Amino acid sequence: MPLVPMKDILQEAEKGGYAVGAFNCNNMEIVQAIITAATLENAPVIVQASQGALKYAGLEYITALTRLAAEKTHVPVALHLDHGTGFEQCVKCIGGGFTSVMVDGSKLALEENIALVNRVLSVARPCGVSVEAELGKITGTEDDIFVSERDSLFTDPEEAKYFCEQTGVDALAIAIGTAHGQYKGEPKLDFERLSRIHELIDVPIVLHGSSGVPDEALKEAVRRGVRKINIDTNIREAFMGAAKAALEAQPDMLDPRKMLAPARDAAVEIIREKIRVFGSSGKAVK
Ligand code: G3H
Ligand code: 13P
Ligand code: ZN
Repeated sequence: MPLVPMKDILQEAEKGGYAVGAFNCNNMEIVQAIITAATLENAPVIVQASQGALKYAGLEYITALTRLAAEKTHVPVALHLDHGTGFEQCVKCIGGGFTSVMVDGSKLALEENIALVNRVLSVARPCGVSVEAELGKITGTEDDIFVSERDSLFTDPEEAKYFCEQTGVDALAIAIGTAHGQYKGEPKLDFERLSRIHELIDVPIVLHGSSGVPDEALKEAVRRGVRKINIDTNIREAFMGAAKAALEAQPDMLDPRKMLAPARDAAVEIIREKIRVFGSSGKAVK
């Protein structure tokens, strides 16, 4: 079916009490893996493109690949800009066929973040495109954050309430202890904070940096209100692990398909596992 706005998918997730996987893509094989996994699991899904993906593959290729893949499946698919850098990039993606954009104003002061999100909403809304914002600071696992400083980066529940009232945004990414990339130890999530935020806002909550978060913690986050879960690193690990194994088994390999096909299969498997953990398996067709 044609690409759908992310808002529609997340509204259903809110009603059903599950989370939808938002998986990062960089090339044809990963787009195919995401859609194959979602189709086999009969699950709604979000395909998202980071700054790196847009630089590597280009907006037109990402849009064309995802649109085609979506048209070939029965499950709802949204195409989302991940960590959009500002107004201009969001407008470009809206014009280019994305059905959702994130504008990452998390480094801005609160009122500036609100103003930026409202500016993006003023263009996105009339086009039927959804908007995700971020409040609090989600770091990278490579950033050395002291425990004392960690909490100050977390999303303040009252501020989240004010932010949602002032913007009417479609999804809100929050900082509760996850980080982008491979974790050195086990991440500790602030579940109390998540519950408090969920009590105060009725906007679907987004968890970034979810690769490497134990399944039980992810399930608990879903029980406490998370509705979109971002996964990139776990796909890279699976994809590259299988690609390296194929190359090691046949070092003289000349045919890239012999490396990319097992890599794609490995990505399908990890995405299916995540979809089951998030509770969205079987939710595409009632
Ligand atoms: O935002 C999270 C992505 O994992 C960043 O990935 O290296 O493709 O920009 P990138
Ligand atoms: P991970 O790579 O840690 O899964 O993070 C993905 C993400 O949050 C993309 O926005
Ligand atoms: Zn992220």
